Amino acid sequence: MNLSQKIRELCKEKDAAILAHYYVDGEIQDIADYVGDSFYLANMVKKLPNKVIVFCGVTFMGESASIINPDKKVLIPDMSAECPMAGMADKKEIIAMREKYEDLAVVCYINSSAKTKALCDVCVTSSNALNIVKALPQKNIYMIPDGNLARWIAGKLPDKNIIPGRGYCYVHHGIMVDDVLKAKKEHPEAQVLTHPECRIEVCEISDYVGSTSDIIRFASESSCKEFIVCTEIGVSHKLNAQNPQKTFHFIKKGVCNSMRKLTLESVYDCLINENTVAEIDDNISRQAIHSLNRMLDFARI
Ligand code: 13P
Ligand code: SF4
Repeated sequence: MNLSQKIRELCKEKDAAILAHYYVDGEIQDIADYVGDSFYLANMVKKLPNKVIVFCGVTFMGESASIINPDKKVLIPDMSAECPMAGMADKKEIIAMREKYEDLAVVCYINSSAKTKALCDVCVTSSNALNIVKALPQKNIYMIPDGNLARWIAGKLPDKNIIPGRGYCYVHHGIMVDDVLKAKKEHPEAQVLTHPECRIEVCEISDYVGSTSDIIRFASESSCKEFIVCTEIGVSHKLNAQNPQKTFHFIKKGVCNSMRKLTLESVYDCLINENTVAEIDDNISRQAIHSLNRMLDFARI
């Protein structure tokens, strides 16, 4: 039996389901039960009957899964696979913002720590942020941690006063306008598809801006045959599998070192040992679940 088969056998034995984000290596996506973007995976966690969930992504994803579904054992293959942006929100700034604006909603990108989620009014992901912020009754919206996503949403909702947080994703923020212009010069027929964690100037010169799943959907439905993709390289696995007749050019800087830490070996080890469990302080979890559930409720509307 090869390692992938051993993992599948262990899943049966332990009643475990593997969830994987599009950014992890293709061989992990191939053995997963469910592969998707942050929102799809968070939503899926609610529905799963399995006792154990192996969350193949960065640690905040596993933590969110555990908060949403506290009865499950959520295993994280590599505890050191942290998303740096998740730690880029500041409690003092949230408190100061609440004091400054009476009519304020604190909107927290799912790429954040459980502690930050506990202080916010609602969570969002890149696929639902626009609809959720639009539906909020408050005019003033403090969007943390990701300032780039906030600026992108602000451009779409001019009636809201959107205050961007100071956080950013080094992978997406590292993609510069010049990188895109150079790629466009090399591939003049290609459409540019961009994740909203990219700089606003990059979003503005793109043909389409959307979450990981939205990018895959757009590329699959487009009649265009060639694309420049401004997001993490892991997405190429699904894009190529679903569109063998199309060509995808990724900007070389689009590599998330944390997602790359996950390997088939780490997935196997975490299933065997069951000791890398997502554990969140009960108090924080009780508070954080509100902002996550509110996101899931909004998405159902
Ligand atoms: P998605 O919401 O598109 O899954 O993105 C998550 C993420 O970490 C992007 O860097
Ligand atoms: Fe975090 Fe960026 Fe990696 Fe996404 S790509 S997990 S935002 S560091």
